[in-house]
Amino acid sequence: MAARPTIFVLNGPNLNLLGTREPEIYGTQTLDDIGAMLSERADALGLLIDMRQSNHEGHLVDWLHEAQASGAKAVLLNAGAYTHTSIALLDAIKSIRTPVIEVHLSDPKTRESFRHHSYVGLAAVACFAGHGANSYVLALDAAAALPL
Ligand code: DQA
Repeated sequence: MAARPTIFVLNGPNLNLLGTREPEIYGTQTLDDIGAMLSERADALGLLIDMRQSNHEGHLVDWLHEAQASGAKAVLLNAGAYTHTSIALLDAIKSIRTPVIEVHLSDPKTRESFRHHSYVGLAAVACFAGHGANSYVLALDAAAALPL
């Protein structure tokens, strides 16, 4: 049987604290809860997910490179605050052919003005934001629909 296509799900700083971190903004589901939701959906879509989190920008850069090297079908990227600051992440996304979909639990465009600009968004193929944990599921559905 052919291997199932893999979707990297990369999470940036402070997302390890989901569940207790500003629940009025980010909800009460933990990152593990989101991973479980995504695994179930991935199964139904015939996909595998490889979900990771780091508080360090360079890890996210390395994992974007790894997504391409390992032949991942797509990357879902919630870069947290690095979304709004990281030219290194923008360059990494532009350095790989693997499509990257930007994800946010909240909708940064309706929050403080420093969250309105997204470096990730300058190179991502799509963005799902403002749907809480469901932003990830919507992004996974979009990743499934991308051509191989
Ligand atoms: C976030 C939005 C960012 O502005 C913020 O820095 C985060 C989380 C979100 O998922 O809503 O850490 O990416």
